[in-house]
Amino acid sequence: MKYLVAYWSQTGNTKKVAEAIFMVLPGEKFIKTLDEVGTLDGFDLIFIGFPVMQFGPPPAVKKFLSDQVAGKKIALFVTHAMLSNTEDPRQQAILHKELEKCRSACSGSQLAGLFHCQGELSETVANELLSSHLPMLMEFAAMRPDTIGHPDQAELEEAEKFAMSVIAR
Ligand SMILES: Cc1cc2nc3c(=O)[nH]c(=O)nc-3n(C[C@H](O)[C@H](O)[C@H](O)COP(=O)(O)O)c2cc1C
Repeated sequence: MKYLVAYWSQTGNTKKVAEAIFMVLPGEKFIKTLDEVGTLDGFDLIFIGFPVMQFGPPPAVKKFLSDQVAGKKIALFVTHAMLSNTEDPRQQAILHKELEKCRSACSGSQLAGLFHCQGELSETVANELLSSHLPMLMEFAAMRPDTIGHPDQAELEEAEKFAMSVIAR
């Protein structure tokens, strides 16, 4: 089996998850940023990771997915600022919608699974969002304290388990 881990990461959170997944893959394996990926041809399974931005995949990732994943066996890993296990129904609904957008951006692919976890909202990003004066973005900025330190060790171990379970199928 030949595996590829391909990721897009602005502040390093998704990169941490990518590296954790890469570590546990057996055999022939490669890790690349989306910019470095030429073709997805020739891989048996491709793990693709990115952060949620503005409630869905970032535009560059959306384009990559729509151009490249049709007919390919892929598994997604996604980081986001939302609490993964929130009890708040409104937050749950937002996260659900975000993840649906990520899935639906992969139409035509064989999607073998989706892993997601929280990723720290950097101080610079939080300050930018705060200065936007847009209520929705300011609400995100206020989440920063809850996101600090994520993905944590437990989440990285969950990502490793996810990768193992996908390749075992
Ligand atoms: C411009 C911008 C927009 C974001 N929008 C969202 C969002 O809509 N929903 C969300 O849950 N997180 C959002 N986030 C938080 C990121 O998804 C989160 O911090 C992620 O872990 C960043 O990953 P990275 O370090 O790999 O870039 C946003 C972050 C940025 C910078």
